[in-house]
Amino acid sequence: MAQLKPRVLRYDSLPSTNTEAASQALKGAAEGLCIVALEQTAGRGRLQRQWLSPAGAGLYLSIVLRPKIEIGVWPLITLMAAVVVRDALLAAYAVETDIKWPNDILVGDQKLCGILAETIDTDRGRAVIVGIGINLNAVALPLARGNSATSVEAVTGSAPDPEELLHALFHLLEKHYGVLQSAAGPEEIVRAWCARSSYASGKRVRISSAAETLEGLTRGLESDGALRVETDGGEIKTFRTGDVTTVRPAGNVQT
Ligand code: BTN
Repeated sequence: MAQLKPRVLRYDSLPSTNTEAASQALKGAAEGLCIVALEQTAGRGRLQRQWLSPAGAGLYLSIVLRPKIEIGVWPLITLMAAVVVRDALLAAYAVETDIKWPNDILVGDQKLCGILAETIDTDRGRAVIVGIGINLNAVALPLARGNSATSVEAVTGSAPDPEELLHALFHLLEKHYGVLQSAAGPEEIVRAWCARSSYASGKRVRISSAAETLEGLTRGLESDGALRVETDGGEIKTFRTGDVTTVRPAGNVQT
């Protein structure tokens, strides 16, 4: 397995770094291509949401990967990315974060980073575009979401250097991507994710998927990263997509 070699293309403004990375992957870009933009005019989030990306307020990047792993464990790419971002924030800024399933990076209950992984079929085989949006300062915070989002600057009290974070991200991506593609990689990624997330087990959540919405206690991950939730009736349900919110003891829901 060749080592991942990031090659960075920088833009002042793009509609979406994910869209640009996908277009370059379709034209044959090698894995490791990383598109970074200072601003996105049509940034995209999970579940068809918009990702506000004002100029200079966040780190917006997308990396092309062409993993050599079983198709059944491709969902672990998104969990691996969350582990990478969580470790990079700690390494670059000493910021401690939590991971909400599958890949939101939180400080307390507030979102600091979102990850959007999109697969595409190209002439060189299936690729995945891993898009990462990290709020660096308050300008990045969507007003409509009230105080449910935060930024590195809000947490540390000083303006972060995005290059330090980019450097840490590449270093940790090389490490964890190598692990994912090794023989015991899938189990190791699940273990690494669970060790870093308070959502892995025993957390009371509400989860909404296209099929259903229910409340229960998280009970670990399946080998492909699916979330297990135990209902109040004692049944274990497994989710491969969905939106998780924390349920407070009083029954309030926190995004
Ligand atoms: C989410 O939490 O909903 C995922 C947000 C992902 C945002 C990033 S910013 C860089 C990349 N380009 C996009 O259009 N989206 C991702």
